[in-house]
Amino acid sequence: MENSWKMFEEFHIDEEMGFALPNPLVELPHPYDAWISIARNLPQLIEDGQLRAEVEKLATLSTDGLEGHKEQRLGHLALGYLTMAYVWGRGDGDIRKVLPSNIAIPYCQLSEKLGLPPILVYADCVLANWKKKDPSGNMDILFSFPGGDCGKGFFLISLLVEMAAASAIKVIPIIFKAVQCEDSETLQDALREIASCLKRALERFHQIHGKYCMPYTMRAAVKYYVDPNIFFNVLRIYLSGWKGNPSLPEGLLYEGVWDTPKQFAGGSAAQSSVFQCFDVLLGVQHAAGGASSVSAAEFLQEMRTYMPPAHRNFLRSLESGPSVREFVLSKGDASLRETYNKCVQAMVSLRKYHFQIVTKYILIPARRKSKEKGTSKGSSKSEDKGTGGTSLVDFLKTVRRTTEKTLLKEG
Ligand code: HEM
Repeated sequence: MENSWKMFEEFHIDEEMGFALPNPLVELPHPYDAWISIARNLPQLIEDGQLRAEVEKLATLSTDGLEGHKEQRLGHLALGYLTMAYVWGRGDGDIRKVLPSNIAIPYCQLSEKLGLPPILVYADCVLANWKKKDPSGNMDILFSFPGGDCGKGFFLISLLVEMAAASAIKVIPIIFKAVQCEDSETLQDALREIASCLKRALERFHQIHGKYCMPYTMRAAVKYYVDPNIFFNVLRIYLSGWKGNPSLPEGLLYEGVWDTPKQFAGGSAAQSSVFQCFDVLLGVQHAAGGASSVSAAEFLQEMRTYMPPAHRNFLRSLESGPSVREFVLSKGDASLRETYNKCVQAMVSLRKYHFQIVTKYILIPARRKSKEKGTSKGSSKSEDKGTGGTSLVDFLKTVRRTTEKTLLKEG
């Protein structure tokens, strides 16, 4: 891989935004503006009980008039919001199992063009769902679900993590070149840079409950901390998919597209390319281990199919690069090993913190809910699932353990 931004253009990676879409569009031309105006008023339309009727009134549009990647991404984002809102309604159990053809047909056409599934994915609601609110760099999201600013906090914090990682992605070509040229000194400098970017990503992550202030121009970007109860009881429902979900056991029927219902996992940051990118670079191999590691690895591979194809290809191209881990091992240089370990440790720290967040935002509210219902001691089966549909505790612990095992021992 060359040290050149041209190379990254091919993989749709931006110097400042990393995997996030730089300056997404906020409007679509007529007649697609009809999708935007519903998406923009979504919480109100849901509250007024008007959302489904408004969606059913939409004309069946051909997506051929959407020109260029950015228009298509905005179309996919807007239809994703409409679909989630149509299926889950008020989030009170009144669910639709059929997506009407007037929205299913354009949605599936557009999904095929973009190489994305016809469901709201992380590449929509985080990577393409933002705008600069004012010249000082404050950011906002384009579309919201019910639950006030909870979604804004969740999506923007994920975006800030992506942006912090962007500086680390830049260093990857330098790392590969250094390994190829057996240049330990350059490699070590580059690994130091990766470790410090990943540390910064963790600081951004801490903002989820306002523990840290923003240290640079994005200082005031996120004032909207994520409330655990609203996340659990409201936002999580709208992000849920129809794969392994007991509420829609067979999946969703996309009317006019397929004759049988299809299953797709819900939107989850597990669809971010950032963690997978540094796993590959550092040689964190999720399949190494017992049966639970295999299924964790399978899930992470499956999540790649929810990423934009250019990002999927980038991960694949990293896999064919030289092994940084093998090189560090072969050198037997204690200082180089220590720097490599700092990068792996930064990934462990991110995953440890992530687990604390999951405990606060899913496991504790799930326990509280089942106590209120007086059902069982623990949380119910469906509440133990992430929006991506995993049995989340086992999955996240397995992934963290595999990362820890990647640390190189002395000697
Ligand atoms: C309220 C905040 C969050 C909650 C409740 C949460 C929850 C979860 C859950 C339940 C999973 C398991 C997969 C699934 O079924 O969805 C998961 C995976 C994952 N999440 Fe989060 N998440 C949060 C924020 C974030 C953020 C901000 C990021 C980083 C951008 C992130 C990155 C990941 C990654 C990379 C995985 C895959 C597992 C791994 O590689 O370690 N999450 N998350």
